[in-house]
Order: sequence, then structure tokens, then C-alpha cells
Amino acid sequence: MFYECARNDHGLPHNPLKQCVVPRPIGWVSTVDGRGRVNLAPFSFFNLVSESPPLVIYCPVGAHSEGGEKDSLRAVRDVGEFVVNVATWGLREALNVSSAPAGRDVDEFELAGLTKEPSQLVRPPRVKESPLHLECRLVQVISMPGSFGGVANCMVLGEVLGVHIRDDLLQDGLLKIDRLEPIARLGYQEYAVVRETFTMPRPTRVAV
Ligand SMILES: Cc1cc2nc3c(=O)[nH]c(=O)nc-3n(C[C@H](O)[C@H](O)[C@H](O)COP(=O)(O)O)c2cc1C
Repeated sequence: MFYECARNDHGLPHNPLKQCVVPRPIGWVSTVDGRGRVNLAPFSFFNLVSESPPLVIYCPVGAHSEGGEKDSLRAVRDVGEFVVNVATWGLREALNVSSAPAGRDVDEFELAGLTKEPSQLVRPPRVKESPLHLECRLVQVISMPGSFGGVANCMVLGEVLGVHIRDDLLQDGLLKIDRLEPIARLGYQEYAVVRETFTMPRPTRVAV
């Protein structure tokens, strides 16, 4: 099949696009706003986009349930810092709870029964139960084409200042991904968990 995005003429009950780019890693983003209100929310429009300097993006699209920008965007504009907590199989239910359309004063750490752990270089707390955290400083909020509920879709670009890795995830100098068990989004209500990995050395230089 072929469909044209501008016409959305796929003829399916759901737009398949979000199932076409999979699996999408999930950045579980904690922020704190200028009034000290802590927020936690998952973003699957998320990725590491550069290594040196290390840069990540997450994209708040659409509006907060009470109108205006989502908390994870408003707070990062206020304070200029955020933490990416890695979403794992063991934390999947808490992650889901933290995505609820909650009021601005709701602390999703409390809602999801999670523990705040102070960060070393930035103000937003980390999710203690998560085994891996990226402490980040805002580089730029980029407005993207499109809006929803009167709010422009945005891309938050941040520099990773520090990385916490739980020691038992490391073996022979590498992270054991099968121990981390990260979850990823497959579109709509489907997820994947990474437990199986394989190794494939890059080809050596090809002579022409
Ligand atoms: C797995 C998952 C991934 C999500 N990814 C995104 C995303 O990339 N962008 C977005 O705007 N909302 C995303 N959401 C919805 C937000 O988590 C939700 O709107 C949340 O309440 C964020 O709002 P807040 O920053 O005001 O707390 C996702 C939800 C789930 C469960």
C-alpha cells in the first residue's frame, strides 16, 4: 500500500505512521519548574542525536490537559535542566501511571509511587528505582511545524552533563543490555522489551 501523509488516505482505522518507526526508545523525563513543582513524564519522540558533545532530544507535542504547554516543556523553559531516566521492564507500570493527564500541581513521582533521588549537576531529581540516568542542561527549545490545542509542537535539545549507571549493569567494560531490560514504544498501546541482543562487527575498509 501507499498513502500520502497530507491526505491521510491510508484507509486504516489508525494512522500506521507511529508503527512504522519502531522501536522508539522512551525518555522518562523529570523536571522541576521555577516554583519547585516536580514533574515526570515519558516521551517516545526521544533520542540521543549526537555523541560529542552528547545531545538528546525529547518532543512535547500537543497541549497540557489544563491547556497551555505540557509541564515537561514549561519547566525546562523555567529552569533549563532535565533528567532522562531509563524506562525498564520492571518500571513499566509506574511509567504508564506517570503519563496520566494530571493537574499541574500533581507530582508524578508520588502518583506512581517512585522515590526522588537528588541529581549531582542539575536541580530535577532522578527516579531512584531506574538504574540509569542522564543529567541534562537545556541547549535550545525548537518550535516544530504543527500545533495541537493552540500549542506549538516543540523539540527540546539538551546536552548530557553526567551519566549514572548502576554498577551491576556493567560487565567487561560494557553495559549488559539484557540486564537493563529497556522498554520501547511500538505505537499505540504496544511496547517491546529488549532482552535479546546480537553482535555484528563493522566491515573493514572496502578497496575500490
Ligand atoms: C510511552 C509513552 C510515550 C509518550 N511519548 C510522548 C511524546 O513523545 N511526546 C508527547 O508530547 N507526549 C508523549 N506521551 C504522553 C505524555 O507522557 C503525557 O502527555 C504527559 O502527561 C506529559 O505531560 P506533562 O509534561 O504535562 O506531564 C507519551 C506517553 C507514553 C505512555
